[in-house]
Amino acid sequence: MGRRMKSLPAAALEFFSQRKELGENDFFLSPAFSRSSFLSTFQPPSPDKPVGKRLIPSQTARPPQKIAAPAALATAQPVSEKREALKQLFFGFRECRRCALGATRIKLVFGSGNAQAQIMIIGEAPGADEDQQGLPFVGKAGQLLTAMLASINLDRGTDVFITNVVKCRPPQNRNPETSEIVACSECLTKQIEIIRPKIIVLLGRIAAGTILNSTESISKLRTREHEYKGIPVMVTYHPAALLRNPDYKKPTWEDLQKFRIIFDELKE
Ligand code: URA
Repeated sequence: MGRRMKSLPAAALEFFSQRKELGENDFFLSPAFSRSSFLSTFQPPSPDKPVGKRLIPSQTARPPQKIAAPAALATAQPVSEKREALKQLFFGFRECRRCALGATRIKLVFGSGNAQAQIMIIGEAPGADEDQQGLPFVGKAGQLLTAMLASINLDRGTDVFITNVVKCRPPQNRNPETSEIVACSECLTKQIEIIRPKIIVLLGRIAAGTILNSTESISKLRTREHEYKGIPVMVTYHPAALLRNPDYKKPTWEDLQKFRIIFDELKE
């Protein structure tokens, strides 16, 4: 009896799970994300509509997430020196036990996106969904981040590389401790060195405090441009903060607009 052909979604799932086993989960666009599926969840505020309501993705409006079709598999990043260097770095940290989080995590969340991206986005630490999947920003805050990027015409699979200050989930999503941030700093520093982005965006207090070595509030830091080892840095609110506090939506939208202008200038 001939073997039954796998359905396309099943074949795609098997493809991704095999890549994950090979440690190559990190630079692939999660099949759950596409520009079109999130554009409909995040609309930039307009003067005639209240800013707040439109930034939060509506649970009802979001279309069901689709498994990637074969065409999406072909969009995997080409092998590049940066990608190879990131892969080696990932292999060096995959079994990391530099701090106690190594014992409680399910998966180390190294990062995702394009190794050759000109934009690097740094968040705080993985949550439960990220810990399960081994990919950053895939839970509710991540879906909002994807929509925020799409609203300024950026695709999280091709235009950015996304990672966190801390690569393993702190229990109960508590803030990472200083010792955990220090233990992860070698990995983050090397990621920045390899990617050498044109601009870095820091999401929230932990990322801003770590990279800028500052205890100032986001409301103050976001009003200035910063630099890390010669790379321009911008600061804005963490998407999880937007989900908790709608007052942050308007300033975050302003930050996104400013960021897009600065990035376009840097590209020229
Ligand atoms: N919050 C973060 O800071 N990072 C993630 O990956 C998910 C949620």
